[in-house]
Amino acid sequence: MKKIFEEYKFKHGKVIQNRLVLAPMTTYSSNLDLTLSKAEERYYHSRAKGMGMVITAATAVNKNAQAFERQISARDVRYKDSLKRLATAIKSNGAAAILQLHHGGRMNMPGLYPNQDIVSASSVKANRDYAVVPRELKTSEVYDIIDDFTNACRLAIAAGFDGIELHGANTYLLQQFFSPHSNHRTDEFGGSREKRAKFIMTLVDRVLQVKRDENADDFVIGYRFSPEEIEEPGIRMEDTLYLVNELAKKDIDYLHVSLGNYKATSIHDKDNVLIATRILNVISRRIPLIGVGNLESRDQLEEALEIGYDLTSLGLIALADKNVSAKIKNNQTPSKVFTKNSGLPAPLYERIKTWGKGLESRGYTFE
Ligand SMILES: Cc1cc2nc3c(=O)[nH]c(=O)nc-3n(C[C@H](O)[C@H](O)[C@H](O)COP(=O)(O)O)c2cc1C
Repeated sequence: MKKIFEEYKFKHGKVIQNRLVLAPMTTYSSNLDLTLSKAEERYYHSRAKGMGMVITAATAVNKNAQAFERQISARDVRYKDSLKRLATAIKSNGAAAILQLHHGGRMNMPGLYPNQDIVSASSVKANRDYAVVPRELKTSEVYDIIDDFTNACRLAIAAGFDGIELHGANTYLLQQFFSPHSNHRTDEFGGSREKRAKFIMTLVDRVLQVKRDENADDFVIGYRFSPEEIEEPGIRMEDTLYLVNELAKKDIDYLHVSLGNYKATSIHDKDNVLIATRILNVISRRIPLIGVGNLESRDQLEEALEIGYDLTSLGLIALADKNVSAKIKNNQTPSKVFTKNSGLPAPLYERIKTWGKGLESRGYTFE
């Protein structure tokens, strides 16, 4: 039986101290030049305590990739020291450090900087009030973005990270290429399901090549995805099962399914089977799966491991209670009260506070 507090070894040898993962969470708190702020450094150091691994906030791989204000960047070598501080803040408190690499595509917040160029697979606006019609990327520009991801991966290795996670979830650019809603391309990156997956598959092959070039043998490469979209047409479970089967053939270290609840079932298929179970059946132990969503107690974490997840990500609960790992270990209930002393960078605390009702329904309060 899997235990929360036991070491976990990835297939290329990286060992982490337990199965708890800090979920990737944007902090909106970098310095204005998009380097890591002191507040973020303190936050990551405190949240690393007792975690097997920490996945950083979505980190922009080039200028156009930036989706939010004050989002840290890995766009070029000028950001190496900032990234080094981030890796060190995490690793010096015992967790493995995973840099989440990101391009927001059509979901980028307009007006972040002058002459912003919002791009996507095709010129199709997202169903969001704030969204604008993006510019369709030329084929050569798609390859440029793949280069930006691989350069950011090389930078992560140089900065001392233990791995990267490719952010293919939550409606951002990688997902936009895979989705029939946002991808109407007629070149090699669009059309059939296989062609819509080509951006992702090419990117995965290229970061694996970086790892070989840099002799970073135990460097961890993970892939995060969202299994379904509400859009019509949009990604359905059938697409996702195809995608995870293809990803499981690659020499990467984990998959991370982004769900609001670790026990979610499909929003389209009326089959009442857990999404996790359907994914686990397809990957059939070829690659570990990280679960996330409403994992807030020891019982839930144990249940998640029983369902078949290999590692478990903590989001909001780890923001509210910096001692979440120790509390779970000691069978105590983590706190759901956000206070100014929760150790969160101020813009993150203020942002979460604006979510009000959604959080209250989950029992979170503010002091
Ligand atoms: C403040 C905040 C920022 C987030 N930023 C990211 C992000 O940068 N990348 C990402 O993949 N998911 C992001 N997420 C989603 C979380 O990783 C996680 O999937 C979600 O919070 C569900 O887990 P929970 O129920 O434990 O909070 C964010 C969530 C929160 C609350």
